[in-house]
Amino acid sequence: MRLSHRKTQQQVNLTKRILITGGAGFIGGHIAELLLTQGHQVVAVDNLATGKQQNVPDGAQLVIGDVSDSVVLESIFETGIDAVMHIAGQASISLSFANPAADLNTNTLGTIRVLQACLKHKVPRLLFASSMTIYGANPVTPTPETEPANPISYYAITKYAAERYVHATALRPDLDFNFNVTSFRMFNVYGPRQSLTNSYQGVFAIFVGNVLRGEPIRIYSDGEQARDFVHVTDVARAWVTALDNPSSYGQVINLGTGQPTSVNELADLVLAAFGHTRDTYPVEYRTAQAGDMRVSAADIHLAQSLLGWSPQVAVNDGMAETIAWARQISQSIK
Ligand SMILES: NC(=O)c1ccc[n+]([C@@H]2O[C@H](COP(=O)([O-])OP(=O)(O)OC[C@H]3O[C@@H](n4cnc5c(N)ncnc54)[C@H](O)[C@@H]3O)[C@@H](O)[C@H]2O)c1
Repeated sequence: MRLSHRKTQQQVNLTKRILITGGAGFIGGHIAELLLTQGHQVVAVDNLATGKQQNVPDGAQLVIGDVSDSVVLESIFETGIDAVMHIAGQASISLSFANPAADLNTNTLGTIRVLQACLKHKVPRLLFASSMTIYGANPVTPTPETEPANPISYYAITKYAAERYVHATALRPDLDFNFNVTSFRMFNVYGPRQSLTNSYQGVFAIFVGNVLRGEPIRIYSDGEQARDFVHVTDVARAWVTALDNPSSYGQVINLGTGQPTSVNELADLVLAAFGHTRDTYPVEYRTAQAGDMRVSAADIHLAQSLLGWSPQVAVNDGMAETIAWARQISQSIK
C-alpha cells in the first residue's frame, strides 16, 4: 500500500488514513473531528450539495467532488486509503420523491463507485451510513436488525440497495483480500452543526430554524408519529469505536436510543425553549408526506453487545445544548 504521508512504523500500526465521503456534512464532520483527535489522517470528499466547508475540521483535507465520479475517487484512493467511512448521501425523503434519479445516483450508484474503488485498491475496511428508514412500515418497535426491511420511501429503497451492495460485495468469493464492512442503520441524528436552513431534512433542526426566524412550524400528519433522536456525538463514537473492532465486521447495527419522541412532543420541547407553546406560536398541521413512517425506535442491544456502545446524551440535554448552539450562531450571523 502506498502512503502519501511519511509515518513512523508505530504510527502505521496505530493510525490510519481514512476517507470520509460526505465529510463536509453534519455527521461526517463530527466523525472527522473525532478521528483526528485519535491521531488518524482524514480525507473528506464532498460535492457540497448540503455540506459546508466549515464542517470539515482543521487538519482534514477536503476534496470537492462527486462520490459517483470514479475519476475523483481514483485521485483519492491512489494516494493510499486504509479505511473508508461512506457517509455521502442525499438524505431527504421528500427530495427522493421529487428527484428519484438524483437520489439513486448519489445513494446507490455512488456506493457502487466507492465499492469499486475499494476493490481496486484492496482497501480492507468500509463503514456505511445506512438508515432506519429501510424498516419502513414495520410495526415492531423497538426494531431489531433482524426485522425484515420494508422501505416505503424512494430514499429508503436507494439506501437499502446500497447497504446490500456493501454486504454482498464483502461476501464475494472471488475477492483476494479481506474486505470488512459494517453498516449503521442510524435513526434520527441531531446535534450542533445540523443545518438550520435546510427545510428538507432533520425535523428537529428544521423546527429550531423555524422558531429562530419567526416562521410557523409545519407538522405533517397529526404529529403523533414518533422518531428516535440520537445525538451526533454518540453516533460518531459508535463509528470510531467500530473502526478497528472485528466483532462489527459484516454486521448491520442500529444506532438510536430506543426512546421514541412524537413530533408534537418535539415541537413542544423546541417551543418551550423559546418561551412558547403550541397555543402561543403558529403551528400548522398539513397532510402526511409520502414515505413518512408512523413510529420508529431502535432496538440497540446489538450495538451494546458488539461495541459496548450505548447512547450517553439524554434527549432533553442534547436538544437543550443544540438549541443553545443554534441561538448562539444565529446571533453571530445577525
Ligand atoms: N441525519 C440523520 O438522521 C441520518 C439518519 C440515517 C442515515 N443518514 C445518512 O447519513 C449520511 C449523512 O447525513 P447528514 O445528516 O450528515 O446529512 P448531510 O446532508 O449533512 O450530509 C451528507 C453529505 O453528503 C454530501 N453529498 C451529497 N451528495 C453527494 C455526492 N453526490 N457526492 C459527494 N458528496 C455528496 C453533502 O454535501 C453532505 O455534506 C447520509 O448518507 C444520510 O442518508 C442520516
